[in-house]
Amino acid sequence: MSIPIVIDCDPGHDDVFAIWLAAANPAIDLRAITTVAGNGRIEHTTHNALVACTVAGIHDVPVAQGAAEPLYGELRPAEWIHGANALGGLTLPTPTVELDERDALTLIADVLNTSEEPVVLVPTGPLTNIAHLVQRHPELLPKIQRVIWMGGSTGRGNVTAEAEFNAWADPEAAAIVLGSGLDFTMVGLNISHQALITREVRARIAALGSPIAAFGVELLEFFCSTYAFEGMPDGPLHDPITVALLIDPAVATTIRTRVDVECDDPRTRGATRVDRSGSPQGPQNATVALDLDAKRFWSLIEDALQRLALRGPAARWD
Ligand code: RIB
Ligand code: CA
Repeated sequence: MSIPIVIDCDPGHDDVFAIWLAAANPAIDLRAITTVAGNGRIEHTTHNALVACTVAGIHDVPVAQGAAEPLYGELRPAEWIHGANALGGLTLPTPTVELDERDALTLIADVLNTSEEPVVLVPTGPLTNIAHLVQRHPELLPKIQRVIWMGGSTGRGNVTAEAEFNAWADPEAAAIVLGSGLDFTMVGLNISHQALITREVRARIAALGSPIAAFGVELLEFFCSTYAFEGMPDGPLHDPITVALLIDPAVATTIRTRVDVECDDPRTRGATRVDRSGSPQGPQNATVALDLDAKRFWSLIEDALQRLALRGPAARWD
């Protein structure tokens, strides 16, 4: 029985791989893709979601545009990582996939209302859309099986010393979703920095020899070139770990604990405080992913690229 999911994303090089993995793996029933501003402005992240679907030949999944700004404050795109259009470093094909006429919240609500079983939400960007859903459609919370979010960190940040980008971009949204009572899983930098895009990984993907694999390698090469952090030999592929965890729970170890997001102190705003004491101060509100089986993870990525390539010709682009 495949798991019904909605991906809410801000493509973003790594978001593209989350979309591809969800679309390709038979364990997942990708019901919808929604976009949020984060890595780039909403027009870029939305365009890039349509590009991701075009390249992979995903024509049967509705794509809808979501929030252009965080709940508070202003949008600060991660141009230094993803480029000015949020999918830098490549020539992008003109999308052949059309944008759904609904907005993100309407599409998610429609998916939840029409699904026979509760749906998993997989946000891989700031949690703005999910927070809006929690606030505006509380009646739909029982139709949400769980939320698996790429964001936060049990340790260092990647925007400030403490804050990871998706949490930093909209900490109030993260606090609202964490406080909603939903079954919440956090896939933070502490585990995503174990998904290193090594030279061997790029060589194996290139050796798949399909147009989508070639496009994927270009994405990975650019991402590695900009995601340079001291002590990290290669860039990490953050977002698809969320989908991989759904497909194969053994891909990561997890603990059940309490997570709080700093929203007030400007020095640590966006930091996720993960209680590792074993006796959390306050109710446990999150499952936190810790250790990655990188071999298992990358085999899922390579399998997805193979499956998408076998589906037939994707978009042709020069
Ligand atoms: O900090 C990494 C996260 O921020 C990833 O989701 C990446 O795509 C960016 O959105
Ligand atoms: Ca992302």
